[in-house]
Amino acid sequence: MTTPSSPILDVHTNATRRHFLAKALAVGGSGFLLANMKAWGMDLASTRDAPPALAGSGKGKTVVILGAGLAGMTAAYEMSKLGYTCKVIEARPFAGGRCQTARAGSVLEELGGEKQVCGFERGQYINFGPWRIPFNHRSTLHYTSSFGVPLELFNNDNDAAYVYNDNAAGALRGRRLRQFEVKADMRGYVDELLAKSLQSGAIDSQVNGADKQLLIDYLVNEGYLSKKDLRYRGTEGRGFKVNPGAGMAPGPGVPSDPLGFSDLLQSKLGHIYHSVHEFTQQSTMLQPVGGMDAIARAFEKRVGRMIRYNTEVTSLRNRSDGVEVGVKDLKTGAVSVVKGDFCLCTLPLSVLRQVDTDFSPTFKAALQGAAYAPVCKIGLQMGRRFWEEDDGIYGGHVFTDTKGINLISLPSSNWQGKRGTLLGFYSFGGDAAELSGLTLKERAEYAVAAGEKIFPGQYRKNFETAFSVAWHRVKYNLGGWAEWSEEAREKAYPVLVAGEQRTLLAGEHMSYLGGWQAGAIESAWQQMALIHQRLSSQGAAA
Ligand code: ALA
Repeated sequence: MTTPSSPILDVHTNATRRHFLAKALAVGGSGFLLANMKAWGMDLASTRDAPPALAGSGKGKTVVILGAGLAGMTAAYEMSKLGYTCKVIEARPFAGGRCQTARAGSVLEELGGEKQVCGFERGQYINFGPWRIPFNHRSTLHYTSSFGVPLELFNNDNDAAYVYNDNAAGALRGRRLRQFEVKADMRGYVDELLAKSLQSGAIDSQVNGADKQLLIDYLVNEGYLSKKDLRYRGTEGRGFKVNPGAGMAPGPGVPSDPLGFSDLLQSKLGHIYHSVHEFTQQSTMLQPVGGMDAIARAFEKRVGRMIRYNTEVTSLRNRSDGVEVGVKDLKTGAVSVVKGDFCLCTLPLSVLRQVDTDFSPTFKAALQGAAYAPVCKIGLQMGRRFWEEDDGIYGGHVFTDTKGINLISLPSSNWQGKRGTLLGFYSFGGDAAELSGLTLKERAEYAVAAGEKIFPGQYRKNFETAFSVAWHRVKYNLGGWAEWSEEAREKAYPVLVAGEQRTLLAGEHMSYLGGWQAGAIESAWQQMALIHQRLSSQGAAA
C-alpha cells in the first residue's frame, strides 16, 4: 500500500452482507443467521445510518465492555440507554482508543521507546490515529451530528499538490510536478491515441457504427483534444507557464507545455491516480474542527462515568451464568474480578491474543487469523505555511515514492494561519517497521530530509518540532488496524463474529470497514443487538 488510500478497499454492500450472512449460517446455524439478519435490520430497515432500534429493556443486567475506544463507548452509550448497567474497562487513563490527537503536552511512550511529550504550539495538532471521515460513513456522522461535534471539510484530493518520485525512470525522476499536469497529460495522450485509432478504423472490430463517433466525441471532451486533428497539445487545466491576469501583461498568460508521453509512461506517474477514487476516498471527506479526538471526548462526556480507567484486563472467563473479567489497577497494582451477564470485548485482536481466556481452541486459533498493520505517522509543525503561501496548495496530499514517506499531507484547517502542522509520512508494512526502529529525532530528520527535496529551501528552514507514532509499538494497540487475508476472512472472521459463550467481539477488526471508525461503531451496533437478543430472549442462557 503506497497511497493514502485505505488499504482496505472493502465496501459494505449488500453483496458483502449477504456473504457474511452465508458465513453466519455456516457457523452458527439458522438461529444465529436470523439474529444477524435482525441485528442488521435486514428484516426491517438498514441499521447502518443509525443504531438498531431495539425493543425491551436491559434493566437489571450488566454488560462488561472491554476497551473504551469507539466500539466500546458506542456500546456503552447505546446499551445504557436501554437500561443495561455497563462496566467499561480501559487500560489507558483516557478514552478513545486510537481516536487520539496530539497537541501541546500530549504524551506517548511506545514499547521500548522514549517518552515523547508533544511540543506543538497551542492550536497546532496532528490526528495521528483516524484523520478523515468519508461522506459515506454515515454511522460516524450519525454521532458527530447527534453529539454536535463541529465538522469541517478535509481536502483529500488536491490536484494542485505535487507528486515527486525519487525512483521514477527517465526524465521525470526527482522532478516536482503538479498532479494536474500529470493527470491532464496522461489522459490527453491516451484519449488522443484512442480517438485516432477509432478514426483510422484500426479498432473497428471493437467499436463501429454510431458508437464510433460518439466515443470520439467523448474522448475529445474528456482529453481536451483538438476537434480538427484529435491531437492533445496541453490544456489550461494543466497550469500555465505565466498565469493570466490584468491588462496586456500578463494578459492572457502563457500556456504550459505538456510533458512528453514517453517520459510520463516511463515514470509511471500515471499510477498515482485512478479514474474514480476508492469508495472511502471520495470527496467529500470531513474532520472534526480542532482534532479528531473531539469524537472521543463527545462519547466520553456521555459514558465516562461508566469507565474504569487505568485498568488492564488480565483474564476472561465465561461462566454458565455470566462472565468474570480479571483486572489489574495500574495505579495501585490491586487485582480484582469484574462480573457481568455478558462481555463485549473490543480489544484489538493483537492485544486480546495475550489475555488469559477460556476460549475454545477453535476460537483461540481464529484470534490469530488477522495480521496487524505496522503503521507510522509523524506530525511536523512548520513555522510558516509555505505550501499555501508559496505554492498555493490548500490541503490535500503530496505524493512521493521516497521509501516510507508515501505522502505529505497538508492540513485542512486554519487556512492562512501563521503556523501549520502537516503529516510528514504515513508509512505501512515493512517500511513502517523500519522507520519505527529509528529514534524520535531520527524519524523527524528522515521526514524533514524527504520533504526538503520537494519544498527545497523551505521545509527544513521552517520545521520546528515533531510528534510521531508507530502504532505497532503502542502497547494497547499493537498495530494500526487488522488486516484480513482472504482465507482468514473465510475461516477465522466468521468464528470471531459469532463470539463464544457469553462473549462477543466488536471493533474495526470485526467489520468490513477495517481501519475506520465506522467499522468500530457499526460492529458495536451489530454485536450489542445480538447481546440484547440473547439476554432478553433466552433468559441470559448462553
Ligand atoms: N482509514 C485509514 C485512513 O484514512 C486507513 O488512512
